Amino acid sequence: MAETTIPALRELPSLFAPPLIGDSLAFLGDPAGFLADRTARLGHVFRMNVFFDDVVCFVGPEAFKLFLDEKYFTRASASPPHIAEILHPDAVPFLEGDAFKRRKELLMEIFKESALDGYARILERIMTRYAKKWAASETFAWVPDLTAMAMGVAGSLFIGADPDSDDKRIADAFQTAFGGMLTLPVNLPFTPYGRALKARDFLRGRIREALKAHQAAPKDDAMAQAMSARSKNGEKLSENEICIETFHFFGAYVPVIGGLAFLAMCLGQNRAVLDKLRAEVREKLASGPVTMARLRELPYLDRVCKESRRARPVLPITFFAKVKEECSFEGVRVPKGLKAVGCIGPTLQDKDTYAGPAQFDPDRWIAASEKQHSAWVPHGGGGHLTAHRCAGEQLANLMLKTFAVLMLREYDWTFPEQDFSATKGQLFATPKGGLQVKLRKL
Ligand code: HEM
Repeated sequence: MAETTIPALRELPSLFAPPLIGDSLAFLGDPAGFLADRTARLGHVFRMNVFFDDVVCFVGPEAFKLFLDEKYFTRASASPPHIAEILHPDAVPFLEGDAFKRRKELLMEIFKESALDGYARILERIMTRYAKKWAASETFAWVPDLTAMAMGVAGSLFIGADPDSDDKRIADAFQTAFGGMLTLPVNLPFTPYGRALKARDFLRGRIREALKAHQAAPKDDAMAQAMSARSKNGEKLSENEICIETFHFFGAYVPVIGGLAFLAMCLGQNRAVLDKLRAEVREKLASGPVTMARLRELPYLDRVCKESRRARPVLPITFFAKVKEECSFEGVRVPKGLKAVGCIGPTLQDKDTYAGPAQFDPDRWIAASEKQHSAWVPHGGGGHLTAHRCAGEQLANLMLKTFAVLMLREYDWTFPEQDFSATKGQLFATPKGGLQVKLRKL
């Protein structure tokens, strides 16, 4: 009988990196560019060395699916210590098993549809205030204002701040705290990481004060939802858990800024898409409050918001995991003990999955394949309750869609010539030139 030979597994491909510092500087300088370059040269699974660890990178829908398999990967003790230190080691991205499932079930209560409809009122109020200001301005940079607006929304939703005014100290502190994730973790008063920890402590104090205020006088916002959330077997979030996760929710608003900016950019650059979307908004949602149910009547809006997040990725990678059991992908051995990340940007731009991946084409989703849907990972992959997929995905959808509806109902915008490419050395990308815009009321 002829013997069948099992081909030996290949080792993870990688490129030379200097000892100690490894790929850290190249990666931190331009995470998206670094990963795109490695994907082009090494394929869908490869090794890099960042933050003093060997990390397996997974690109494309099939590799991403393997990365989500909890038989082989765990999030426990996987993230670089400085990232866990900024967010809090007990925050949901770092939990596993039963502790993770319990926390995630409770957190998802905060983003259920009835709660989102309540948040939409706050979103509309703040966005309307900003739109009026923009229409009264000459050409201005949209990104700094979208940043202030997003932080204003986060402040109102999560700590009950006044929706009719901005608190610049809070907005700046969150930028500083979350900026610390993509820096070398040297904790000195003058380093970005040292400043990030200081900003984190200031914010933790503000969140505790907000919780006390909510306990003293009931409110109707996301912190109130967090306080009243109950799991199926009646458990609730402790005060400490509410504070930990509220800090993370705030930080999670930073990618919303990129999401809003790239959506506005894609629309302003593609007149035909903008006109078609405006027609849909005028037909189906010309006036009255935005609700989740009403938004479901706008399929083109859904495709546009989905495609802007695919064509212009905001985040390069997921949180870190660790290989807990050896596995393989397409003949490449993935050894136990290595760190691992799902590569979001390169998967959204995978040329084996999407034709003309850089092109913004909302109609590609009309007859998208199963493979294309599974490669849509701007918020991570898997299920919300079973995997570490973004808890705020529906809130982010609501934010992008409400923004598009309010802007298209009453305003038009054009861009002077500028650099529309994405920022490089930041964890969350936005248009590099700040998105200079001229906006007018129709
Ligand atoms: C466009 C905006 C957003 C993008 C692109 C985004 C993207 C992501 C990504 C990629 C992850 C990590 C997935 C993983 O590690 O596998 C994540 C996790 C998470 N996001 Fe978002 N996010 C956004 C907005 C939000 C908002 C508004 C909130 C809440 C206010 C939020 C809350 C969370 C939470 C709690 C997690 C951790 C989930 C877990 O570990 O189970 N995100 N998000």
